[in-house]
Amino acid sequence: MHMRAIEWDGKEFRLLDQTKLPKTVEYISTDDYRTIILAIKRLSVRGAPAIGIAAAFALAFASGKIDTGEQSAYFKELEKIAQEIGSARPTAVNLRWAVDRLMKHARSVEDVSTIPGILLAEAERIRDEDIHMCRQIGIHGAELLPETGGVITHCNTGALATGDYGTAQSVIVTAIKQGKDLHVYVDETRPLLQGARLTMYELSAHNIDATLITDNTAAFVMKQGKVHAVVTGADRIAGNGDTANKIGTYGLAVLAKSHAIPFYIAAPSSTIDIDCPDGDSIPIEERDPREVTHVFDVQIAPDNIHAYAPAFDITPGALITAIITEHGIVKPPYKDNLKSMFKGGKG
Ligand code: MRU
Repeated sequence: MHMRAIEWDGKEFRLLDQTKLPKTVEYISTDDYRTIILAIKRLSVRGAPAIGIAAAFALAFASGKIDTGEQSAYFKELEKIAQEIGSARPTAVNLRWAVDRLMKHARSVEDVSTIPGILLAEAERIRDEDIHMCRQIGIHGAELLPETGGVITHCNTGALATGDYGTAQSVIVTAIKQGKDLHVYVDETRPLLQGARLTMYELSAHNIDATLITDNTAAFVMKQGKVHAVVTGADRIAGNGDTANKIGTYGLAVLAKSHAIPFYIAAPSSTIDIDCPDGDSIPIEERDPREVTHVFDVQIAPDNIHAYAPAFDITPGALITAIITEHGIVKPPYKDNLKSMFKGGKG
């Protein structure tokens, strides 16, 4: 199996509907930007890099359907659509980053009839660059993992979350393919179970030795000495290294610290928001509390109760041993070291 979250062959654009995995493999075939926005909101396509790529294609497709050739009316409509796409989900900066990157190209063009072709080529470039970045992240990060031992990961950071290969998962898979003898512990990742449904699906397709655990088992396996590193992805990394990632990542970092286990974040430069000063400035998406009170439409809590469903949390830079990027490994102090690696732009 080699599955990609987003497929584009120059004619047909397809999103793998990840809400249906692992039981059903079904694609959403569309070139309608509103359908793509809905797919992003529903998590049919999810994972920071993948939603950036989907957003770029959404804007490129929409730019070809604006029914005016008059420049200012065209740009007014394009800006409105860009705003709609860029705010489909708030935390992963890749979404805004991709939309801004396309809009920068669009604004530099005089003849609006050339914009759809230019934006489509740029969306393809964003996808291709992401695939390349993910490979590089794997190569750099694999060096950090021990020759033998256990690794915990959280949420899904594989091909399904990116253009291909993944971020944290690329690190783990690359290390294992290099011959390291690693056992992967996969947090199920409540409430939407990206670990159980998607990461276990991908790792079993790679024939990787992995064990699914509930999120609250992580402390116990660490205490048992089964874990030698934690690697997760990121949705946004602030200039000081504070990192937003799937809810539960912060808890894992606290546990890693208290068991003296290194904690790594793996992410491409498109996830680094160098101008965002710290974690407090990162908007955290709050999802429908029904995602907590129900598991796949089955109600698991009483009627009329309060439930809270933040999709992400912030891990302070102080708990992160290193950040693995396509350019190499960044160590603390993050404020200085991220700036010197990424101040000249990214991607
Ligand atoms: O809500 P999701 O499934 O989009 O959350 C995804 C994550 O938190 C991932 O860990 C993150 O985007 C990194 S993906 C390479």
